[in-house]
This record gives sequence, structure tokens and C-alpha cells, in this order.
Amino acid sequence: MAADPYEVAVDPAPRRGDDGGRLLRWGLLGAAHITQTALAPAMRKAGHDLAVVGSRSLTRARAFAANNGVRRARGSYEEVVTADDVDAVYVALANDAHERWTIAALESGKHVLCEKPLSTDAASAGRMASAAATNGRVLMEAVMTRFHPRTVALLELVRSGELGSLRLLHATFAFPMRRPGDYRSHPQHGGGALLDVGIYGVAMARWLVGEEPDRVQAVTRRWATGVDGTTSALLSFPGGAVASIDASFDTAEQQELQLVGTQGTLRVPSPFGASPDVDAVILRGDEVVGSWRADHYERMVSAFAEATATGSTAPLPTDDAVATATVLDAIREAAG
Ligand SMILES: NC(=O)c1ccc[n+]([C@@H]2O[C@H](COP(=O)([O-])OP(=O)(O)OC[C@H]3O[C@@H](n4cnc5c(N)ncnc54)[C@H](OP(=O)(O)O)[C@@H]3O)[C@@H](O)[C@H]2O)c1
Repeated sequence: MAADPYEVAVDPAPRRGDDGGRLLRWGLLGAAHITQTALAPAMRKAGHDLAVVGSRSLTRARAFAANNGVRRARGSYEEVVTADDVDAVYVALANDAHERWTIAALESGKHVLCEKPLSTDAASAGRMASAAATNGRVLMEAVMTRFHPRTVALLELVRSGELGSLRLLHATFAFPMRRPGDYRSHPQHGGGALLDVGIYGVAMARWLVGEEPDRVQAVTRRWATGVDGTTSALLSFPGGAVASIDASFDTAEQQELQLVGTQGTLRVPSPFGASPDVDAVILRGDEVVGSWRADHYERMVSAFAEATATGSTAPLPTDDAVATATVLDAIREAAG
């Protein structure tokens, strides 16, 4: 057989079944920025095989494969989701394309790690969850923050009663989004700050409070394109906690998480985008409660692989993604 002209010479592929089935052969959808900067390095570090990347542009796919140690490049997504040598597909496309290509991959028998937000609304996320259940495959929303040891420790601290009862939570994720051509600027692609960065604060509030909000209020400032450049939401939880969540494309870079309970306070700087090269801390006043260094992307990839081997998608089952999407829908509705 003639050599594939788009095959890239990389180290020998791990065999499926190595490490108890936890080393995956990946198909990558999109020559995406996030794959290049975070997920492809994480997959390589975890010992997985980057089998194929598909892009709308074969030229882009070829360049991406050459730069990221991916074996094959293809000029379509279809060829990735149907590839025989792919165990799992990583969907890193514009948000409006997540549902179509996740369901195509699931129906082709692949497990799917899909970028956040799982989709543009809860109904769509629910259809994706149903497709995973029907096809008996793992589907996980790639909220890497949940896999950082600091987040795990924070959840344990709050559940252990460190704060007494959690009453106030404030989460901000904002940065200056100045790329007019970016899909984030366009409503038809599921753009806007709430879906892009507000999702982190909403998911974090749900996890920390341990309930779903029963009242939601919100304000939004829209760009001329129609996407929300800034959204601020107030979530009220049945047990008495109130969370305020800010998401913006219109400010300097800012990430912050503050928790106030009946008996104490905690603060988490850069709570969502923790770099593996910097200490990720939890603070009580000026005192450092704990400090961690970890690659949450690598930990997420390994947890996902474990899920494909064991069937358990804890701590991020698809129900969690649908619940987050339900709150995001309520925020959009409240903002009008
Ligand atoms: N977990 C995280 O830390 C993190 C960080 C950033 C982004 N994300 C998520 O990852 C996904 C991709 O984000 P990204 O920043 O990597 O995006 P990106 O590089 O701008 O786009 C990803 C891919 O989507 C396709 N695409 C982009 N714009 C499009 C358009 N206007 N119309 C049709 N297709 C388009 C392209 O696929 P082709 O290659 O086929 O052209 C592109 O390679 C999003 O869901 C985002 O929310 C996650």
C-alpha cells in the first residue's frame, strides 16, 4: 500500500490495551488553538496516541499535525469520527458545532471529550447526553478546572464545614477579547462571554454549593454583533447561598473566586486557568491554606481515559454538563 502523503513520523503508537485500555488513540476535531496549547501536550504527556486531526482545511490540518505530533491530517471531520484506529474523539470546535460532531462520533462508536460549553443550550446538551447513553460511550465536558487538585481540596474544605455554611460566592472570569474574526464574536457560533468564560463560575458555584439555583437574575451588555460582551448573574440557592458570577470580554484579564460562609472566608486567585508552573493557592485572609502545582488538562485526559476503561465518569458525568447548561439558559433568559 502506498504511504499516506499526510502521515507524520512520530514515535510508535501505544497499542490499544496498553495500561489496561487507558492509553487512547485520539481523533482531534479542528486545528484548534486550545488543542495546540493545552490538550495535545496533555495527551502526549499522558502517553496517548494522537492518531488523526481533521480540519475544514487540509492545509491547516497538515500544518497542525506536523507541529503537534499527530500521525495523520484530514480535510474533513467525517474522516476523523469514522476512523478505525480512533478510540476517542476530542471536539475543539466553535460551540455551535459541538452537538453535530459529538453525536456523529458517538454514533460511530467513539468516546468523546467535548470542549466546554458542551453545547449552546441545555436541550442540545441533553441530546448529546442521550446519544452517549444510547451508544454506550463516554461523553465528558472538558471543564479542566474540576480536575485540578486545588479544586478538589476546595470542595473538601467547604464540605468539611471550614466556612460554616457557605452564604456568598463571587466568581469573575474576564479578559479582553479583541479578535473580531473569532467565533466568540458571533451569536450563530455560540459566541459571547457567558458561554465562553461565565460557564466556569456557574459550574464552580454549583459544585461548591452542592445544589441547583432556584432563582436567577442577570444583566447583559451586548456587542453590535449580538453576543454578550459582559454578563453578570445572581444565583440564589435553596439552602441560603447566593452566588454572583461575572463574565466579560470587555475588561483587563481577571479571574477571582471568593467564598464567604457563616464562620469564615476563603479566596482563590486565578481559580480557573491555573498554570502548572505557578503555585495554585487557597487563601484564608493572607494565610496560604494550601498550594498545588498540576496540569489540570493532563489530569482531565487521564480521568477521561479511566472513564473509558471503567465506565465511571465521576466527577463530571454528562448530567453535570446538562445542569450547568440549564443554569446558563436561565441566566440568558433573565438577562433578556
Ligand atoms: N478548556 C479550556 O481551557 C478552553 C480554552 C479555550 C477554548 N476552549 C473551548 O475550545 C473550543 C475551541 O476554542 P479555541 O479557542 O481553540 O477556538 P479556535 O482555535 O478559534 O477554533 C477551533 C476550531 O473551530 C473551527 N472554527 C473556528 N472558527 C470557526 C468559524 N467561524 N466557523 C466554523 N468553524 C470555526 C476551526 O476548525 P477548522 O480547523 O476545521 O477550521 C478551528 O480550528 C471552544 O468550545 C472553547 O470554548 C476551552
